[in-house]
Amino acid sequence: MLGSEVMRQLSADRQINAVAATIKTMDVTNLEQVRDFLQRERPTHVIHCAAYTQVDSAEKEALTAYKVNADGTKNLAFFCREQDVELIYLSTDYVFSGGKKSPYLETDRPDPINVYGMTKLLGETYCQVLLERHKVVRTSWLNGLGGDYTRNFIETMMRVSETRSTLSLVNDQIGRPTFTFDLARALVTLLDANSYGVFHVTNSGQCSWFELASEIFKLAGRNDITLRPILSEQFRSAARRPHYSVLANTRFEQIGLEPLPHWKDSLKEYFRRRSLYQSLREKRLAGPSPHSLPAR
Ligand SMILES: NC(=O)c1ccc[n+]([C@@H]2O[C@H](COP(=O)([O-])OP(=O)(O)OC[C@H]3O[C@@H](n4cnc5c(N)ncnc54)[C@H](OP(=O)(O)O)[C@@H]3O)[C@@H](O)[C@H]2O)c1
Repeated sequence: MLGSEVMRQLSADRQINAVAATIKTMDVTNLEQVRDFLQRERPTHVIHCAAYTQVDSAEKEALTAYKVNADGTKNLAFFCREQDVELIYLSTDYVFSGGKKSPYLETDRPDPINVYGMTKLLGETYCQVLLERHKVVRTSWLNGLGGDYTRNFIETMMRVSETRSTLSLVNDQIGRPTFTFDLARALVTLLDANSYGVFHVTNSGQCSWFELASEIFKLAGRNDITLRPILSEQFRSAARRPHYSVLANTRFEQIGLEPLPHWKDSLKEYFRRRSLYQSLREKRLAGPSPHSLPAR
């Protein structure tokens, strides 16, 4: 979801020669493929968006999640070190347990409570240990129209509401929904920053899943849907999730980069693009993915 949006924005910039890698051309768990890809392309920067992202499945498939998120990142960090390449590694709010009551700072000590968060934290550690020129970018609650976007929260809500008129949503997990088109733009500006280490990068504002769903159905004009707020313990899921994982974008703003829009504004933008894409598709003017739309 994020990687294809980053590629779309980089490709629109004539100054940048961007090359996409997928699991087919560079499986990050395969040391030789990582070495060969980097030796062939000789990049100045790598933006590492590849990950095992299924938070619940990771509890049962811990080894696979570890291989991709920790080992895969180690492989990339190792060859970036060897070739003096800057590595930008995408990480997550789920490296925190959620025990805080105010936004998490970059300097707060990570203490993950699920396998996904642990493996992503190990990925961070490899970047920090192996590389001087690394940027660990922690973000949260991603939505966007790239890749297999039909799995994102917004599309899941829209799909479920086609067959059910009453939905129960968790109201005691608070975070910051972030949109890939805003995050990708931030990543492109961060490429030029002569500052390294951990950065939190999210949209502004905060909400619960219940509040996010309420806004989604409001914008979609679906006042026929009834939403019920529930507690995390009433919603069965394999992985525990932090009750509070709002990230403070302190360092990003300290180095003078523009704050990302409020999540409610970007949700409106998401729906604008989504309906533009749908109407173009109906007229057979759009390709198979929303990425046929121009970059904002
Ligand atoms: N989604 C969120 O809410 C969220 C929140 C916070 C942070 N993040 C982080 O943000 C980044 C981007 O997330 P996303 O939502 O865009 O993820 P995504 O849509 O699940 O994309 C991950 C990509 O990684 C690829 N991949 C998996 N294993 C690989 C391997 N061994 N080698 C190379 N590629 C591999 C996947 O390919 P296949 O699809 O072919 O398997 C997929 O294209 C990740 O680092 C994630 O941890 C995401």
